[in-house]
Amino acid sequence: MEMIDLRSDTVTKPTPEMRQAMVTAAVGDDVFGEDPTVNRLQQRLAAMFGKEAALFVASGTMGNQVAINSHTQPGDEVICEEQSHCFNYEGGGAALLSGVQMRPIAGQRGVITAQQISAVLRPKNDHFPQSRLIVLENTHNGAGGTLFPIEEIRDIRQLAIDKGLFIHLDGARLWNAHVATKIPLLEYGKHFDSISVCLSKGLGAPVGSVIIGSADFIHKAHRFRKIYGGGMRQVGILAAAGIYALDHHLDRLVEDHKRAFRIAEKLNSFRGIFVDLESTKTNIVIATMDERYWQAGQVAEELKNKGVLAIPFQQNSLRFVTHLDITDEHIERALKILGQVFDSRAFAK
Ligand SMILES: Cc1ncc(COP(=O)(O)O)c(C=O)c1O
Repeated sequence: MEMIDLRSDTVTKPTPEMRQAMVTAAVGDDVFGEDPTVNRLQQRLAAMFGKEAALFVASGTMGNQVAINSHTQPGDEVICEEQSHCFNYEGGGAALLSGVQMRPIAGQRGVITAQQISAVLRPKNDHFPQSRLIVLENTHNGAGGTLFPIEEIRDIRQLAIDKGLFIHLDGARLWNAHVATKIPLLEYGKHFDSISVCLSKGLGAPVGSVIIGSADFIHKAHRFRKIYGGGMRQVGILAAAGIYALDHHLDRLVEDHKRAFRIAEKLNSFRGIFVDLESTKTNIVIATMDERYWQAGQVAEELKNKGVLAIPFQQNSLRFVTHLDITDEHIERALKILGQVFDSRAFAK
């Protein structure tokens, strides 16, 4: 049985054309800054976001952690959203690697406001950690691929300028936000000191992320990347996959979004299952379940037995993600299987 893998957009396999681009990539020693393909990718991304420089890193986690370290000093405080990736899913890296304290704020659908941030800023006083950095996430994974409104980003940027704070964007899925909103990448670039984007999620490259910022920021980041063991050599083979993905897999993300919405609507039609359709605008669908009827782990097992893979997210929720390797035909089959599992208890809404 062919499984329909909706666990994550990280499960994609490089296409034959992408593999071909990798095989033929020009390479050099990137620790010496001599890999022409890496340099091309970095220059391209810096230009796309209107920044001076960029740096290829091994993963989204490395991108965020290198950025946090580059912007802060030990004892500083980093403000972020409570469900954010850098707070929950990076192994406590900010404390371990940068010696900083995270200050999570409860957001609405992953969005925190300038007002909320302003309320937690520390006065300049020796008793307090120093508020130094704000991290936003767009799209927001934990909230269901939600979009961060550009107006709020502008307000937060203004606050950061007024208060002398840095602002980093975890843009692992910023590509999805860009395609869904049509907001230019240059506009996002204007509002952040640094941005980290992933090549290995919606874009379908096998490995890699890129951080983007000023020349001074990238200079610092380069040192931390080396310290973390992320200085790689003939890495143009991987950068070539990223370049191929930017050329061929960016615009098609709208298809992932349409397919995800079909799953969302179907799930929402079952009794005891809720999907926030209003905020489901990209490739992630989070189905929250009424625990009287459903148990996420058990439902995931039932779906798996019928050929659909999803991830139990919280105790009572399941996450479904569409991506490059999911076709309309997969969606048709997945919708049928959802019907078999969720209608099996015969209480349609
Ligand atoms: C929003 C967000 N940031 C960062 C990451 C980390 O990326 P990686 O798995 O490449 O370390 C992820 C991974 O899913 C993510 O969803």
